[in-house]
Amino acid sequence: MQDIWEFKDPQYPQYPTEKNLDLLKFIIEASSNEGGLVLDCFAGSGTTLVAAQSLNRNWIGVDKSEPAIRVVQKRLNNLPNSLFSRVGYEFLRQE
Ligand SMILES: C[S@@+](CC[C@H](N)C(=O)[O-])C[C@H]1O[C@@H](n2cnc3c(N)ncnc32)[C@H](O)[C@@H]1O
Repeated sequence: MQDIWEFKDPQYPQYPTEKNLDLLKFIIEASSNEGGLVLDCFAGSGTTLVAAQSLNRNWIGVDKSEPAIRVVQKRLNNLPNSLFSRVGYEFLRQE
């Protein structure tokens, strides 16, 4: 059994690997614990990071695209803070 999923989300016909928020939450819940660390090294629009944050996981996101990073920051900044889920992150950039 391999760990490559070939599932294609019909919502995103242009990107072969992109998945919707509900499916990513399902995957993260099934494969990690609260307080664990989720890494998305192709963060794109940040859906995996949003899912991880909303499930109280720590996360690291990487992307080579500045526009993608701006979208991710906007989405994360728009998430509500709660007692159990504070959105706090450090943005690192290499020139
Ligand atoms: C389809 S998106 C990924 C979707 C994302 N995983 C999610 O949860 O929504 C693909 C992203 O990978 C990024 N990317 C492609 N090659 C890369 C590389 N070598 N290093 C970092 N990011 C890369 C692109 O800039 C693009 O934003």
